[in-house]
Amino acid sequence: ELKAFDDTKDGVKGLVDASVTKIPRMFYHEFNKDSSSTSSNITKLDVPTIDLVDIHQDPTTRKIVVEKIREASEKWGFFQIVNHGIEVSVLDEMKNGVIRFFEQDSEVKRELYSREPSRPFIYTSNFDLYNSPAANWRDTFYCIMAPKSPKPEDLPSVCRDIILEYTKQVMKLGNVLFELLSEALGLNPNYLNEMRCNEGHAIVCNYYPSCPEPELTLGLTKHTDDDFITMLLQDHIGGLQVLHENSWVDVSPVPGALVINIGDLLQLITNDKFKSVEHRVVANHVGPRVSVANFYSTSYQPSTRLYGPIKELLSEDNPPKYKETTVQNFVEFSMGKGLDGTSALPYFK
Ligand code: SIN
Ligand code: FE2
Repeated sequence: ELKAFDDTKDGVKGLVDASVTKIPRMFYHEFNKDSSSTSSNITKLDVPTIDLVDIHQDPTTRKIVVEKIREASEKWGFFQIVNHGIEVSVLDEMKNGVIRFFEQDSEVKRELYSREPSRPFIYTSNFDLYNSPAANWRDTFYCIMAPKSPKPEDLPSVCRDIILEYTKQVMKLGNVLFELLSEALGLNPNYLNEMRCNEGHAIVCNYYPSCPEPELTLGLTKHTDDDFITMLLQDHIGGLQVLHENSWVDVSPVPGALVINIGDLLQLITNDKFKSVEHRVVANHVGPRVSVANFYSTSYQPSTRLYGPIKELLSEDNPPKYKETTVQNFVEFSMGKGLDGTSALPYFK
């Protein structure tokens, strides 16, 4: 029996709790229309893992790390980092907090269910349900954390403390990453931080329930991120894939690691030097999988500040490829398109 999907009830998790054996049609993805290969990597390539140990003590190590970050940002748009300074216990507690939230009673969660972006904390399933071609096998909650932090009482008590602690640490690490990325561009270390790439901050927590028909759907449609960088904490299950040289490569879980990917806005200001690369999450019989994505961008408040290719990176041989835009204009355009698998960048050429 096909159970209808009422996303306001208990999300995708509600379907799984009701023991569906067939997924509703709205979750079907049309893989054959996908121009990129759907087969996973045959060659067993791996996204680079970069060890940040000693970057603050040893200038030689730092140089090597900066070089690896440059190469990964140009070739993959993705890399993993280890010895980043966030304790494994904090990572584990963050993942546990996500599980605790989604495993609360439906009645408790329903209070927080919304599609109204002005709410400080939003629990939803498929935030883009009504403007994307197919629904995804996942539920989500999200919250804007900076520059204005939410009132503690706006965060659910089952994960309040860890969201606040984790975000504090992730933003501190963000400063370090933007320094390394600035250096990788040949700019002074403060360049990207002074451009306010780490001023605004959103946390998005995902719960991908086990799926009875994973070959018909996706956990998350292929897309690029519309921020400067994203940091992702994933659990041991896997499913995240990145498009590399036209085939899907698994971003294999590495214990204690965080995944970093370049967003559209960093590709724009680096004039295509660093790549914002398409990625997706496959559905799985095994679950739930949880992940926590932190989006680094400017303030989410409207601003007239314009972002275009960084002048220092341009030359006669490398003229600007993009027009200047406000971040708000870029993000609104990108969100308005829905998760249709295409990037907003070509529209800003
Ligand atoms: C994302 O791309 O936003 C999330 C990816 C994941 O859950 O692995
Ligand atoms: Fe993403």
